[in-house]
Amino acid sequence: MILKNSRENIENAAKEIIAGNIVAFPTETVYGLGADGLNPTAVAKIFEAKQRPTFNPLILHIASRDQLKELVSIESDKVYKLINHFWPGPLTLVLPKKKIVPDIVTAGNPTVAVRMPQHPIARALIEACGKPIAAPSANQFGFLSPTTAAHVEKQLGEKVNIILDGGKSDVGVESTIIEVTNDKVWLLRHGGVSLEQLREVCDSIEVKEIGRDKPNAPGQLFQHYAPKIPMKFVSEKSVKELDGKKVGGLFFKENTTNINFTHVKFLSESGDMREAAANLFFHLHKLEVMDLDLILVEPVEEKGLGIAIMDRLVKATNRYR
Ligand code: TXA
Ligand code: MG
Repeated sequence: MILKNSRENIENAAKEIIAGNIVAFPTETVYGLGADGLNPTAVAKIFEAKQRPTFNPLILHIASRDQLKELVSIESDKVYKLINHFWPGPLTLVLPKKKIVPDIVTAGNPTVAVRMPQHPIARALIEACGKPIAAPSANQFGFLSPTTAAHVEKQLGEKVNIILDGGKSDVGVESTIIEVTNDKVWLLRHGGVSLEQLREVCDSIEVKEIGRDKPNAPGQLFQHYAPKIPMKFVSEKSVKELDGKKVGGLFFKENTTNINFTHVKFLSESGDMREAAANLFFHLHKLEVMDLDLILVEPVEEKGLGIAIMDRLVKATNRYR
């Protein structure tokens, strides 16, 4: 059930989490499906509800730095630098875990992913629980991420009793994931903090590229984020194959083709990359339920948040290759 934003609803959601159940809640990136991050049985319910493979580890969400120190060892000053600049916000840090973190959260890895979200409801919920909340995006594994409470209800409505409504997520793509080990900084997933922003704070960041050969490494799935109907990039080839099909279009700013789409959506009519990111999953959720045979999507420029948007689009189209 979707519950409106109120103190009472947040407290009831916190009680559910403390009792070992799962709750969906808003964050500034996407909605999360949360459970008590220190309770392995509760965390198992997340994997079950999402039908997510247990080799894929989860992010722990915290509301204070004291919580961070309970969960991880901090061996590099770079960690403090990153936290000072980007927390609370859409940056996740992968750091050496302490014993208290259950193996089911990290999929047996010696590291754990931690994030301090900015959304006031997420923060209030974590504070009311007094525990770190383990939460992946609140979607069915492999499909579109949710940026509204209604998106969560569409995919997981039968599996989760409480969905806290916090409006539309304003970042709209997941957090950027950074791993810091032995003073080295790796980018594992592009997201809400751009590589340019990170490099202003920390100059030596290396990007871990994914390959088809190791799709099961944490954070490195080859197909992901897909709508339930086929999606392809607009290209010469796909345009020729359209005869008789109901086709939806998703463009950055304007329709750059001469195709007559059944439905067409624009990520940002003013050409703003932040607005585009915020609308990405929002528009795809709309197109997904419009009785189309195919969605054609325009690639966006790989600059700033455009890199995170393209990462999502490439992985979504990979499903239909
Ligand atoms: O914005 C977000 O990060 C959202 C909101 C809800 O906070 N959460 C999210 O969670 O996107 P999820 O589970 O959909 O994605 C988490 C990613 C996965 O790709 C996982 O493999 C990676 O984080 N990850 C988690 N722990 C890791 C670890 N110890 N090492 C490497 N990657 C890790
Ligand atoms: Mg996800």
